[in-house]
Amino acid sequence: MRLVVLADLHMDYTKTTRLSGWKESVLETVAREHASQIDCLLLAGDNAEYAPGLPHHKLLYRFLRKTFSCPIGLVSGNHDVWVRAPGFTQKDASWTVLLEQLPELAGTEDIVDLETTTLSLASGVIVGTYGHYDASLRSPPVFPEGLVSNDQRYCDWETDTHASVVAKLLRRFADQIQSVPAGKALVTISHTIPVRAAVGHPPNYFQDNMDAYAGTTRLADSVQNKATLHFCGHSHAPASVQVGSTLVHNVGSKYTTLVYLLVQGTDVQRFEKKMS
Ligand SMILES: [Fe+2]
Repeated sequence: MRLVVLADLHMDYTKTTRLSGWKESVLETVAREHASQIDCLLLAGDNAEYAPGLPHHKLLYRFLRKTFSCPIGLVSGNHDVWVRAPGFTQKDASWTVLLEQLPELAGTEDIVDLETTTLSLASGVIVGTYGHYDASLRSPPVFPEGLVSNDQRYCDWETDTHASVVAKLLRRFADQIQSVPAGKALVTISHTIPVRAAVGHPPNYFQDNMDAYAGTTRLADSVQNKATLHFCGHSHAPASVQVGSTLVHNVGSKYTTLVYLLVQGTDVQRFEKKMS
């Protein structure tokens, strides 16, 4: 498969106007240079900041469809479902945004939201999920006492715990992988991270705690030895790690350094565009 993979765009067209404009101009360059040769553009989540009515997602999805003529597939990230962020009075649940509002919006721009739909291409199949986290990347595998993440403040998973969010998402993800016909090339993508080594930050006390919020080993259980490549984001740090016969790439975009991966078969080239 020939792909361009991006992650962590964090588009906010009101608070970070200059950043959004700069990122769009980078994406226009990427499209000019690569769109005609790739099978698909993939986004690994935290694509835009949630706001009621999804105004930032609407602008991003419209821009992507206008700019790239190829198929586009994406998964959401935690920021895409921060329904209780300060200033919002609308009471959507994160589940509703993740499983209904974002896929419906993507459909209006002929973009595939991989949380609900598998993307089949002539060259293979893409399966994806947000993923979430369950502390399994931390040792010991428990949430750090006294530390409260913004996801705990801003997401609303209703009666679900972190573990049950992971279980629900990963059950569907594993089923989708299982249903890919034998012999078809499989590429998988998540927002959160499948193995500790792919977090991309050096081990230290701070990072040991943050690992609790980085991902889940259930992603690795689902993809290893099935997908040739797995892409993720979330930690804003690059990493490439072999997990069984699956090569896991963390894209590693930062807020002012946009990274894109150009994939041809199993060859993955990494390009960095720094904001000037
Ligand atoms: Fe994230």
